[in-house]
Amino acid sequence: MDQSPAGPGVVLGIETSCDETGVAACALDGRLLAHALYSQVDLHAAYGGVVPEIASRDHVRRLLPLVRDVLARAGVAPGDVRAIAYTAGPGLAGALMVGATVAAGLAYAWGVPALPVHHMEGHLLAPLLEPDPPAMPFVALLVSGGHTMLVRVDGVGVYDTLGNTLDDAAGEAFDKTASLLGLGYPGGPALARLAESGNPEAVALPRPMLNRPGLDFSFSGLKTAVRLAVDRRRDREGALSPSDAADIAASFQAAVVDTLVGRSVAALDHCGLATLVVAGGVGANRALRARLQAALAARGGQAHFPRLEFCTDNGAMIAYAGVRRLHQAEGGLPPIVARPRWPLDTLPAA
Ligand code: KG4
Ligand code: ZN
Repeated sequence: MDQSPAGPGVVLGIETSCDETGVAACALDGRLLAHALYSQVDLHAAYGGVVPEIASRDHVRRLLPLVRDVLARAGVAPGDVRAIAYTAGPGLAGALMVGATVAAGLAYAWGVPALPVHHMEGHLLAPLLEPDPPAMPFVALLVSGGHTMLVRVDGVGVYDTLGNTLDDAAGEAFDKTASLLGLGYPGGPALARLAESGNPEAVALPRPMLNRPGLDFSFSGLKTAVRLAVDRRRDREGALSPSDAADIAASFQAAVVDTLVGRSVAALDHCGLATLVVAGGVGANRALRARLQAALAARGGQAHFPRLEFCTDNGAMIAYAGVRRLHQAEGGLPPIVARPRWPLDTLPAA
């Protein structure tokens, strides 16, 4: 396949693994030229969570207009596209299929390869889109709605999983606690907002796993402790006072942040590294960002985060991962790959 740039040369990235339709264009040197995101949050809010069928149908509606929009804003034509990177997993099967088939269809029509990208690789490379990007090796803390992982990163595709959650993901714990507090969907950002007006020391909650060896996480015990704390504070009508709700939110957030910071520092010690990269939706949490920045600065190291909008799902991280794997793109009929489950450390090195 000829990759010599006739025009500017871009990789188009497509993200449809869950409830955000994301599209972006990156230049071949990794510079982000344009990105667009359509969030389905309002569509799913009424159901209290993502409804897979509705997610797939809405990706179908949104994807091609977003592609057109991104190409126009990047100032490039279809002839400038060198490859189409798309999220091939992990994620919702139907939602992934939409991105995969649209990517393969466009790739076929434009005579370029389609590149299946691992969603979590997208997240963990997202901080490299920022100015002053971290150098490898580093430790990545991946904290999203579906994952809570610590990964040693020695190169693109050279990943060693150090720790994983044994039950809920951190984002899932945020979402479930938010729902317990009646905050609706999506819970994480709403709980973080409520926590700002609460006292993080008001409710004694466990710091799961921190006193255990290893680098795994567990959030189900914390979830139970929060449920008990909520039940104890309900009045006869079952209602929670606004100040109790804020205190519980703040205490919960502090427990999760302590756990994530403690485990991240232990992972850095284990690897003898000083650079931490944080990615995934929970990486947008301001309390977590502040605590990690302080913890890393105290060790003479540095914590790197994507900008807030690239913590949660987006097309930019997929386009960027596509650039880093462009040399592995295969010619021939574009592949349609959708892998709802896909372990990160089975990826080949780039
Ligand atoms: O990475 P992401 O957008 O989607 C997945 O791949 O899962 O992460 C979404 C998760 C949700 O659980 C959401 O509640 C959580 O990230 N989240 C937050 C914040 N913003 C998003 N959790 C805590 N604080 C936030 N500010
Ligand atoms: Zn994600």
